[in-house]
Amino acid sequence: MKLYIINGPNLNMLGIREPDKYGKTGYAELTELIRAHCCERGITPIFFQSNHEGDLVDKIQEAYFEGADGIVINPGAYTHTSIAILDAVLSTSLPTVEVHISKVEEREDFRQTSYIRRACVKTVTGHGTAGYLEAIDYLSEMLSRNEN
Ligand code: DQA
Repeated sequence: MKLYIINGPNLNMLGIREPDKYGKTGYAELTELIRAHCCERGITPIFFQSNHEGDLVDKIQEAYFEGADGIVINPGAYTHTSIAILDAVLSTSLPTVEVHISKVEEREDFRQTSYIRRACVKTVTGHGTAGYLEAIDYLSEMLSRNEN
């Protein structure tokens, strides 16, 4: 099973940026946690982080062309603005889980819109970096169920 783990703008600043909201785990540490989690489950994670909207669109399309089984994505602030990222996920028809480290529903009004949500099979918010592992487990269970 191959999953794309895509992170949007400023998530490379994890551990440095607003640790009260996003915790102390850095991006490199996060990818290692995910890698270990996936390794135990026979999942191949493909990591990507970008601060640029079009690069995120390109990577979502690549997931389709490279035959990924699913996508875990934290689009960062593009969650609240990007129809292009929504359309990219819809184009692939790949099962996609939206992850937010913070509990976005309890934050500012401008964070209450998620364009990507309607294209996702699940949303995880407010569970810190563990939310990514939850998303992976959800996809892995869903995909194994579909195989049977
Ligand atoms: C975030 C929440 C977004 O509102 C914010 O712009 C981020 C991170 C989260 O993981 O909680 O960059 O997606």
